Amino acid sequence: MFYEADKPHGLPHDPLKSCVAPRPIGWISTISADGIANLAPYSFFNGISVAPFAVMFASNGPQPHGPKDTITNVEETGEFVVNMATWDLREKVNLTSAPLLPEVDEFVHAGLTTKPSKMVKPPRVGESPIHLECVYMQTVDLPSDNPEFRNAMVLGRVVGVHIADDMLTDGLVDTAKLRPLSRMGYMEYAVIDDVFTMARPE
Ligand SMILES: Cc1cc2nc3c(=O)[nH]c(=O)nc-3n(C[C@H](O)[C@H](O)[C@H](O)COP(=O)(O)O)c2cc1C
Repeated sequence: MFYEADKPHGLPHDPLKSCVAPRPIGWISTISADGIANLAPYSFFNGISVAPFAVMFASNGPQPHGPKDTITNVEETGEFVVNMATWDLREKVNLTSAPLLPEVDEFVHAGLTTKPSKMVKPPRVGESPIHLECVYMQTVDLPSDNPEFRNAMVLGRVVGVHIADDMLTDGLVDTAKLRPLSRMGYMEYAVIDDVFTMARPE
């Protein structure tokens, strides 16, 4: 089939997100200007450069009560942490995606513990095996089909990296042991537990 992206596709559900899959999930913790911790998953997320190591996430549309807390907090306080979302944490990841008011701390809502970060103020998810401490670089505001909805891509520089010691095997990050979650379309997720290696051509 083919359809023009801004015209009806004729399918029972929008297929678009399934066409860019799997997407890693950045489980992003921030702290508000008032000091309230916040945590939410973002699958429009990725690593985008190595030197410096930088990541992005995109915040699409508002909550019923106003703008999404994550982008508000990052723009106001300049810091965030990317926590790895894993199979073991899938229910907690989902719980933190609820459209909660800014005064609600999702760590408490989801029954998660916090660990202090070393270089930024937002806490880390204690149960998550990998954390990237990030400093805000810039926001790229994107066109939005609905003028009332902000579409924005946030870029951050990774300044600190935590890797749980038991997730290193012979000095390599053991992805099959980590079992990272990824997002597809609809309500679908995938888990990585089958890894293969392939050398690049000379
Ligand atoms: C797995 C998953 C991935 C998500 N990815 C995104 C995303 O990339 N961008 C976005 O705006 N919302 C995304 N959401 C929805 C947000 O998590 C949700 O709107 C959340 O309440 C935002 O919280 P906040 O206001 O504390 O930032 C995702 C939800 C789930 C469950």
